[in-house]
Amino acid sequence: MSCSGATGGVTDVRTTDLVTPALVVDAAALEHNLATMAAALPGTRLRPHVKAHKTTALAARQLAAGHPGLTCATIREAEGLAAAGLAGDLLVANEVVDARRLGALAADGARITIAVDSDATVDAAADGGVREVLIDVNVGLPRCGCDPADAGALAARARRRGLGVRGVMGYEGHLMMEQPRDERSARTGAAMALLLEAHADVGGEIVSGGGTGTYDLNTWVTEIQAGSYVLMDTAYGALGLPFRAALAIEATVISVNRAGWAVADCGLKALGMDHGDPSIEGYDVWYCSDEHVTFSGEPLPRVGDRIRIRPAHVDPTVAYHERMHLVDDTTVVETWPVDLRGW
Ligand SMILES: Cc1ncc(COP(=O)(O)O)c(C=O)c1O
Repeated sequence: MSCSGATGGVTDVRTTDLVTPALVVDAAALEHNLATMAAALPGTRLRPHVKAHKTTALAARQLAAGHPGLTCATIREAEGLAAAGLAGDLLVANEVVDARRLGALAADGARITIAVDSDATVDAAADGGVREVLIDVNVGLPRCGCDPADAGALAARARRRGLGVRGVMGYEGHLMMEQPRDERSARTGAAMALLLEAHADVGGEIVSGGGTGTYDLNTWVTEIQAGSYVLMDTAYGALGLPFRAALAIEATVISVNRAGWAVADCGLKALGMDHGDPSIEGYDVWYCSDEHVTFSGEPLPRVGDRIRIRPAHVDPTVAYHERMHLVDDTTVVETWPVDLRGW
């Protein structure tokens, strides 16, 4: 039987019924991650980033864990959360040059705050009907964010345009994987000094930043925007964080070669590869191609066996899949649509 269309509710489906490759999420590991983070950063100290999972059902779990606000990267994520009634306090932590769709959500009662780093994005927010902004400050990652010295002037422009300025954000994404931990901590402190300098000129109650790699080191912000913690990947797994590997891809072995390798049906089109090859416990992964992963190890599996593959980067991996299956070993407990994909 194929259960590729199942959504919600407890099922009697086994993982062997799933069409592969299929995203599977270990229910116990997920609960552990939600609880561990809620204990470390309770309530508003965490604003979970939904970009990692793009799944409304999982965002609802994060709200139920006590975090009243969520972070988004795309307009589509905000729209999906608002449609599900989860838009009590959404931060779009990204620059938007046409904010009309977000303005429409605000007009419908959602609380929408967007990041701005230029006159153009301030004007887009005001013209689009968004009411609140954070001044996005560059803290060392060559991506979005204004120069700290320009933050005060941008905030003044936003206020002149009638926008509420809730504070600042600065994402130290270049430091998330920095090792050793002491170095990550010291460099995060230096990055956050830039953010606090900007905050002194901007004002507002929010200083937002951080991610899974700095969730417990970045003590300068008022809220951490971590997302990966809830599902995890092998890149973050290497840091020794207290979060468990919840996400895997269930795949089927489709070929075994006597010369000493096997092939499963999970390739580049089912995996984010920008952080490197995936991992298969007990085996060495050779390489991935479009629809295949080739691996070796003794004893080799047999054709038709199921294996679980761990991605190196959770966010782009999830974005390839239409649904994720919450599992208890080989029992599918629930199936959730990955419904916040798209733009
Ligand atoms: C602006 C911003 N904040 C937070 C995060 C979440 O980081 P992490 O995946 O380390 O949890 C990201 C991830 O890319 C991001 O782009």
